[in-house]
Amino acid sequence: MLLKVKRGWELPENAATDESVYVNRRALMKGLGAGVIAAPSLLASMKSAHSAIEEDPTAKLYPVDRNEKYKGERPLDEEEKVLAYNNFYEFGSHKYISSAAQAMPLRPWTVTIDGLVEEPMQIDFDSLIGKVQLEERVYRHRCVERWAMTVPWSGFTMDQLVKIARPKSDAKYIMMKTLADESSMPGLKAGWFPWPYTEGVRIDEAMNELTFLATGLYGKPVPKQNGAPLRLVLPWKYGFKSIKSIVSFTFTSEQPVGFWEELQAKEYGFWANVNPEVSHPRWSQAYEELLSSRERIKTRVYNGYGEYVAHMYDGMEQQVGERLFR
Ligand code: MTE
Repeated sequence: MLLKVKRGWELPENAATDESVYVNRRALMKGLGAGVIAAPSLLASMKSAHSAIEEDPTAKLYPVDRNEKYKGERPLDEEEKVLAYNNFYEFGSHKYISSAAQAMPLRPWTVTIDGLVEEPMQIDFDSLIGKVQLEERVYRHRCVERWAMTVPWSGFTMDQLVKIARPKSDAKYIMMKTLADESSMPGLKAGWFPWPYTEGVRIDEAMNELTFLATGLYGKPVPKQNGAPLRLVLPWKYGFKSIKSIVSFTFTSEQPVGFWEELQAKEYGFWANVNPEVSHPRWSQAYEELLSSRERIKTRVYNGYGEYVAHMYDGMEQQVGERLFR
């Protein structure tokens, strides 16, 4: 049985479930079967999240030093809220998947780097993390559904992964995939979604100083529901670009089609840069609601990160128009 706790700051049902507009929610629940998603008490889900953290062999790496250049400019959201209100469709098309996500196996976790690279490789996550420089950064996050949060991610800049990969000169994009594990992810039974979850970036976006591969959150390994063990963070783009629980990075010459773009290209595009002036076809993006305080504030272009990223899109307005912001 599905627990749906409606809070004051939540969007109306029709807006909050927009990403699954083509999904028959009843059919999903039927497909999942009764009892697959247990009605989670918040306490139970927090407990299991913490026991998962205790067993993680990388736990000793945290906390890492904060890079004070990236401050977030807003109060940090409350950790309990960030860990208990998620989008992770592999575990269900609602927000309360934190308990169900504890079933995801994290070890061994093999990361594949392939496509247009000098030497395709498979690398164990625990080896990969030993090859990079970890730091903490506070970033704002803006979901396309209009909720927003400010959180301290730990992890490493994506340019370090690109250097490890050694792309060939004709590589222009990177496509990433999330784990698709039928035994632990009940959402995969919803066959109308184009599993596995995929997302892509252009290589200069991957090399941008803001682009971060998160391995930790609030000074601990990133919890399963937030995308353990390796999750992309692109703070100037709508949150659906920030793919969770990544198992592969494929370098390509062709622009990849992500999960949401494949499902509904008119609403979710490749670029998805935050812009208050370009509405989603079914709702305005002018305002956002902060997860913990429930404050309603004005959305900023590029989520306020224009000084770091706007140059990458110079001259593209003509070419892709509103697609740049959707
Ligand atoms: N990655 C995967 N694999 N599956 C998802 O459903 N949801 C995306 C993104 N990454 C999603 C995903 C969306 S829509 C958002 S807003 C963020 O994850 C939410 O991240 P959070 O749950 O850590 O806040």
